Amino acid sequence: MVLWEGRFKKKIDPKTNDFNSSIKFDNRLYREDIEGSIAHCTMLGKQNIISKEDSKLIIEELKNILSDIETDKLKFDENAEDIHMFIESELIKRIGDAGKRLHTARSRNDQIALDIKMYLKKEINEIINLVKQLIVVLLEKAEANLDTIMPGYTHMQRAQPITFAHYLMAYVEMFLRDIDRLKDTFKRTDTMPLGSSALAGTTFNIDRNMVKDLLGFKEITKNSLDGVSDRDYIIEFSSDISIMMMHLSRLSEEIIMWCSWEFKFIELDDAFSTGSSIMPQKKNPDIAELIRGKTGRVYGNLIQILTTMKALPLAYNKDMQEDKEGIFDTIDTIKLCITTIIPMIKTFKVLKNNMREAAKKGFINATDCADYLTKKQVPFRKAYKIVGNLVSYCIDNNKTLEDLTIEEYKNVDKNFEKDIYKAIKLEECVKNRNIIGGPSPEIVENRIKEVKTLVCC
Ligand code: ARG
Repeated sequence: MVLWEGRFKKKIDPKTNDFNSSIKFDNRLYREDIEGSIAHCTMLGKQNIISKEDSKLIIEELKNILSDIETDKLKFDENAEDIHMFIESELIKRIGDAGKRLHTARSRNDQIALDIKMYLKKEINEIINLVKQLIVVLLEKAEANLDTIMPGYTHMQRAQPITFAHYLMAYVEMFLRDIDRLKDTFKRTDTMPLGSSALAGTTFNIDRNMVKDLLGFKEITKNSLDGVSDRDYIIEFSSDISIMMMHLSRLSEEIIMWCSWEFKFIELDDAFSTGSSIMPQKKNPDIAELIRGKTGRVYGNLIQILTTMKALPLAYNKDMQEDKEGIFDTIDTIKLCITTIIPMIKTFKVLKNNMREAAKKGFINATDCADYLTKKQVPFRKAYKIVGNLVSYCIDNNKTLEDLTIEEYKNVDKNFEKDIYKAIKLEECVKNRNIIGGPSPEIVENRIKEVKTLVCC
């Protein structure tokens, strides 16, 4: 059934109809569409814009349609223009004239804005819950590795000692910010656009606040043109998720490196890695690579919606139908990536000895050695140079700072005493970095406790 008949003398060309139609992808909004219609219809009845009987009849049938879709009794009609037209036509097919009253004081323009906002609010909450589960797994792993010494890197060069717990907690901080960003986006998604109608509101005495309350929105939109043409929330959400994918991708990149024989800091569980079709020895981190790879498509979706919106005149334009596939793909991708990375992280083995071995090399306690002198009143720049010379001496003689005799130390600076060995012991270097934010086990443990109260409730 074509609902916009009247003005037209011919039926739409079938191929054009296919091109124009969004039902293949917007059918996933059926629940939001029906719930929105039920709220709208309740309000129409209450305001006597349509009769109470019609309102009741429409609502009952909308509920039947919902249950028929969910039990697979009702299939989406691929020829329908979109989910809104499909449900309205089905309603009219079932209850006739009463059904024709549902669209009073409403347009598909405010209807689709409403549907996406409802859908996005639900998905934001689901994604936040998934991120919390990911954080919990990272916290558990961190708790088990408070004393696991490893080299920290800058420029991919061994730099200073940290612990594996400290490293994992850096990602926890990123994911906490991701949650924060999503909560912020939620606020701006939580505004109810229905009543904006096509673009200029309506002359009917509708009660927008009632619809807002029925659907659990915090606010109503304040300008009808903006109400139907705003897609900021999709752009914000897409950029929140792009940032989160960037975090997941960095983590994946490190997992990939650390599984390599060059590092061997971790070993993935067999259940979460793959083999090669030709090389019998291979164990590949495909899952982490795919997460890194999928980051590109999520960025692509962000750029797509930004570009689609950039020159659209107010208010609704059909270009905006292109908002859906990208956002759906972004939602599916992030959920898939989080649920896949969780068990992979949970089950990987931490090869503590290899981390410790790597930490022995690379003079990662050189700063601590310089700090030792600085604490004995040697100006830091001077201490830096003395230790630089010591490192160079060690390299020439194939030694580490721990291997040097006290005489060798004293030869370069008389301030060195026997306690230098304690000061450059990696465990001490880590333990003494006990400022807030530092890698000392005590500090990291406190932060783990704090974060637990934030994410576990
Ligand atoms: N399928 C459309 C979309 O997703 C719904 C709004 C259609 N509005 C219109 N005036 N044609 O954007």
